[in-house]
Amino acid sequence: MALADSERTLARPTIARERTDGRKWSAMTPARSRLTPSATVALATSSEYPALTLDDQTLVPALAGHGIAAEPAIWNDASVDWRRYGVVVVRSTWDYHHDPGTFRRWIQSLDLAGVPLLNPSPILRWNLDKIYLRELEARGVPIVPTEWVAPRAPHSLREVARRRGWERVVVKPVVAASAHGVWRTGDVPTVADEQRFHASVAQHGVMIQPFVDAVCTEGEWSLMFIEGHYSHAVLKRPRSGDYRVQGQFGGQFAPATPDASLIDAAERVMRALPFPATDCAYARVDGVRDAGVFRLMELELVEPALFLAGAIESSDRLAARIIEGL
Ligand SMILES: Nc1ncnc2c1ncn2[C@@H]1O[C@H](COP(=O)(O)OP(=O)(O)O)[C@@H](O)[C@H]1O
Ligand SMILES: [Mg+2]
Repeated sequence: MALADSERTLARPTIARERTDGRKWSAMTPARSRLTPSATVALATSSEYPALTLDDQTLVPALAGHGIAAEPAIWNDASVDWRRYGVVVVRSTWDYHHDPGTFRRWIQSLDLAGVPLLNPSPILRWNLDKIYLRELEARGVPIVPTEWVAPRAPHSLREVARRRGWERVVVKPVVAASAHGVWRTGDVPTVADEQRFHASVAQHGVMIQPFVDAVCTEGEWSLMFIEGHYSHAVLKRPRSGDYRVQGQFGGQFAPATPDASLIDAAERVMRALPFPATDCAYARVDGVRDAGVFRLMELELVEPALFLAGAIESSDRLAARIIEGL
């Protein structure tokens, strides 16, 4: 995305809730934090952003203001000793979707080492696979209509489009970020689209959605939440002729002021989580207004750009949340 696309102690039992799918939040009890007033905070990033993004750099002085040191650490750098840190805040790990298995193992290794993560590891795990959208939909959140296709499942793109009454459709992997692996068909799926679809399904689970024009007209909204409370927002638009709002495809964003109904819709998304919204140190609600309805495109709880550079107060609030357990 554009430089613009993160339990602390004391055993917060709040995450150990029932899931709506009947499964338990197994092993959900957060590790106890080892934060001490002298603990260093790791801001987990990727090799592409070794010095953090401009947004995340704002956290360093914000934490320093509380006497807390913070430094970037590349999540898949084998030389990093994560036990040195009081907490690891997931930030610009924007390459994890290329190797989601290794990313999951990294989260598990921090759990096993007793190093707390923000967002807490159970939340990260829940949010890694976009199947969480189905859970939120079942809890009453309007999402962009989605057909879910399991890996290697026998499915026909054209059959799905015909059955659902969709013309142009968007196909995307269920584990993805930064518009990686997202593609769209022409006005109706062609034979070539069908072949591309089969190649996608051979590799991973896939989502099919109708193409939402609002992405290109009004744009895609991102509403940031710090510790479960609405903070600030941006509106992202694609380059002319494209539909991906991410910066690497020429997309642009601008700070924007959502009206009360939009904030209310995003707050309803946060309230629909299967754990308390306040357990999320940070969250980004991405969605589009389609025929007057705010439809959730993604709820980003792993590594969203938080557009902090233009919202320094929010950076301070997130810093305060990070050190809350001290
Ligand atoms: N149904 C859709 N209609 C129009 N554009 C879409 C649709 N789904 C995704 N896009 C475009 O593709 C981008 C990436 O899709 P998204 O679902 O946000 O996945 P990720 O950001 O994880 O790659 C969106 O930001 C948007 O620009
Ligand atoms: Mg997105």
